[in-house]
Amino acid sequence: MPAALIDGKSLAAGIRDELAAEVSELAARGVRPGLAVVLVGQNAASQVYVRNKRSACEKTGIASFAHDLPESASEEELLSLIKLLNEDPAVHGILVQLPLPRQIDEKRVIRSILPEKDVDGFHPVNVGLLSIGDSCLAPCTAAGVVALIDSTGIEIAGARAAIVGRSNIVGKPAAMMLLARNATVTICHSKTREIAEEIGRSDIVVAAVGKPSFIKGEWIKRGAVVIDVGINRMPDRKLAGDVEFHEASKRAAAITPVPGGVGPMTIAMLLKNTVEAARLKIVR
Ligand code: GUN
Repeated sequence: MPAALIDGKSLAAGIRDELAAEVSELAARGVRPGLAVVLVGQNAASQVYVRNKRSACEKTGIASFAHDLPESASEEELLSLIKLLNEDPAVHGILVQLPLPRQIDEKRVIRSILPEKDVDGFHPVNVGLLSIGDSCLAPCTAAGVVALIDSTGIEIAGARAAIVGRSNIVGKPAAMMLLARNATVTICHSKTREIAEEIGRSDIVVAAVGKPSFIKGEWIKRGAVVIDVGINRMPDRKLAGDVEFHEASKRAAAITPVPGGVGPMTIAMLLKNTVEAARLKIVR
């Protein structure tokens, strides 16, 4: 039987509906969650992502604060903007779209965001909290990956999970989140030996390498859950994931499509983190 498609679009829509209801409740208590999305420069992909993030906020009732700086912006300019946003009580979440132009030190920028407003979950305080299994703002794509896995009904505890890719944005946080859920986690990367065997014994495969067809369909264990984080633009302009979708579908129990799998979930989780950051502000 071919794999079930994991419908990220519909799962994300459900989460957005729940969040819109929460936003209304918060409004009744006089709080409107607000997200500042900062874009520096003209990176084409970043422009699309940022536009989608801003529009998703508006649809959910979250206030969206747009800050666009020129490609030539200095690190000091960006740091002063972040300082203002840190101090602004209407801003509950701050997202600086990556990558940044080369004159700006990404690490310094991430560290300058207040951890309680770091809705990307990239600040070392949040990374640390995630790795000790404490509550925190967790990276959105990784959180989306776990929600997609949960939607299949597979038991994460005790499952073998292979994460392919060790980025700070996806691979490492996804590994930490699955470990916190008691999966047996292996992180694979470009130097991993016998990757086919690693994948072949995994009940859950998370592909986040950024190379089309890197994961061969024949590697997939029968009945596995496959989450494809890759978004690769092919010469024919179509999008493709990191997994050989057609072949993998013949073996997996469930698999995410690209597009329509992980992508919509990243934004849903960003909105969720923003609402959470606003809520924590009230509780404190
Ligand atoms: N660039 C690619 N993915 C992301 C993300 O999740 N957050 C930010 N801020 N930039 C990105």
